[in-house]
Amino acid sequence: MVSAWFKYFTYLVTISAVLTNVYLYTFPSFHVKNCTWKCFDQEDDEPAFEEMSIMERMIYKINQYKDDVQEQVYSTKNYTSAEGEHQVRMLAFGDPQIRGIWKKSSYLAMLDVYANDCYLGHIYSMMKERLSPTHVATLGDLFSSQWISDSEFYNRTTRYVTRLYNRDTTNLVRLKKESEDEKGQYRVDWQSWGDDYNKRRLSDPPAFDYGYSDVYSWDPEHEDFLFINVTGNHDIGYSGDVTYQHMSRFSHLFGKDNYWVEYDAGTDHAWRLVVLNSLLLDGPALQPEFVEGTWAFLRALENRNFTGSTVLLTHVPFYKEAGLCADGPMFSYYPDVYEREPYKVNLLRAQNHLSKNTTDKVLSSIFNNDRPGIILTGHDHVGCETVFNRQEETKTWNCTTDMVNSGYNIREVTVRSMMGEFGGNTGVFTGHFNKTSNNWEWNFTLCPFALQQVWWLAKTTIGLSLLLWPIYILF
Ligand SMILES: *[C@@H]1O[C@H](CO)[C@@H](O)[C@H](O)[C@H]1NC(C)=O
Ligand SMILES: *[C@@H]1O[C@H](CO)[C@@H](O)[C@H](O)[C@H]1NC(C)=O
Ligand SMILES: *[C@@H]1O[C@H](CO)[C@@H](O)[C@H](O)[C@H]1NC(C)=O
Ligand SMILES: *[C@@H]1O[C@H](CO)[C@@H](O)[C@H](O)[C@H]1NC(C)=O
Repeated sequence: MVSAWFKYFTYLVTISAVLTNVYLYTFPSFHVKNCTWKCFDQEDDEPAFEEMSIMERMIYKINQYKDDVQEQVYSTKNYTSAEGEHQVRMLAFGDPQIRGIWKKSSYLAMLDVYANDCYLGHIYSMMKERLSPTHVATLGDLFSSQWISDSEFYNRTTRYVTRLYNRDTTNLVRLKKESEDEKGQYRVDWQSWGDDYNKRRLSDPPAFDYGYSDVYSWDPEHEDFLFINVTGNHDIGYSGDVTYQHMSRFSHLFGKDNYWVEYDAGTDHAWRLVVLNSLLLDGPALQPEFVEGTWAFLRALENRNFTGSTVLLTHVPFYKEAGLCADGPMFSYYPDVYEREPYKVNLLRAQNHLSKNTTDKVLSSIFNNDRPGIILTGHDHVGCETVFNRQEETKTWNCTTDMVNSGYNIREVTVRSMMGEFGGNTGVFTGHFNKTSNNWEWNFTLCPFALQQVWWLAKTTIGLSLLLWPIYILF
């Protein structure tokens, strides 16, 4: 006979297992409004909560949850756009910052890293299944450190591709085969990458192929959405750190740092995606030619004279005064005497925002056609939403949190981090072409998941239940 406390313990564990796992596999249904694309053809049918009693509110929420779960189970919701409708459906993830394991890491630390990958992967697979996105973007800081070897960079890329985003690795494996050192480890050939970079940079005009049009997938055989990587300071470093090695391995495994994709150019519903490497705009830089390359990109972009709407994806947020977001303005530079790496003296060591001057120049060159646009950034893990108002006389941009504003303005969404301690968020970003106003409308909501502990609880209580029940039944 098992004791009474064993009985209750078994029940308790089982109930926790059921509850936490139900949450794990239906979490978007608890936050229906935030975890769904904005449907513009539908009236916003949220009732007036203030007028409802607590009981009525609860019943409403439970029904909403139940209906949404049913919709998911029977897949009655179809998000693909109807004929003649123009939609952009993007999942935007902020700063996953996956950590590495080292020779001296304990088993517990290794397990934690593995579990964290699975946690992030769970969020992505749930959201992707639910929402069938047209675009998936990670807004920089894919990894937690820029001070890692090529081999570790490759290993984390593999984790990023398989565990987080469940993607095909054929290409990645091929790239490694072509770039192995004598020990069979990945080593990037930064010299030839650098030669090629400088040859392109020095031709007139610079011969970087930044421009794409109407790309809906890089790999149509395996996926029906566009996968976008953005450079973060932890992936390549701040401009005082970025070396040829950093840039070449990022471009080798993650693609270009600066590019645009124009969609339906020349039509009334034209729009474009701009991916910008914001780490190489300010200085002083270790390799100033990279900063030059980024500004050349911005000039090329401006010269397109594009007439549609623009979605800008980048890592470092634009300049704003303290108090508007968690991070205030901050620039730090390597000291006058820096013995560890003397060649970095006075170079840019870290920044929270782009400088004011860079902000004005970049915004004026990208948002130069008075069409609606939006910016998605990362870096500040807390996340926030602000608006940049253009001052017509000076062509400078003032940042406020005031959402109602006259004049031309662009919203900046700093996407709250995907990391466990911030609640595992997904940015749900919808673009909808409004045929009445003849303009794109961009909407963003944040879909939260749960702290990592909840994920752990769900997994351990399942394991424990499977262990306890046989004992309970047999003895
Ligand atoms: C990367 O993974 C390979 C294969 O598992 C391993 O041999 C190598 O040591 C790893 N690199 C680092 C820096 O740990
Ligand atoms: C982003 O990175 C993944 C993983 O290496 C890669 O498969 C994909 O092609 C990259 N995207 C671009 C635009 O190169
Ligand atoms: C954009 O406009 C400028 C100035 O009017 C012109 O010189 C340039 O050729 C145009 N670019 C394209 C791609 O049409
Ligand atoms: C979506 O964005 C547009 C402006 O781009 C705004 O007018 C509209 O109210 C937003 N819709 C929702 C549901 O937030």
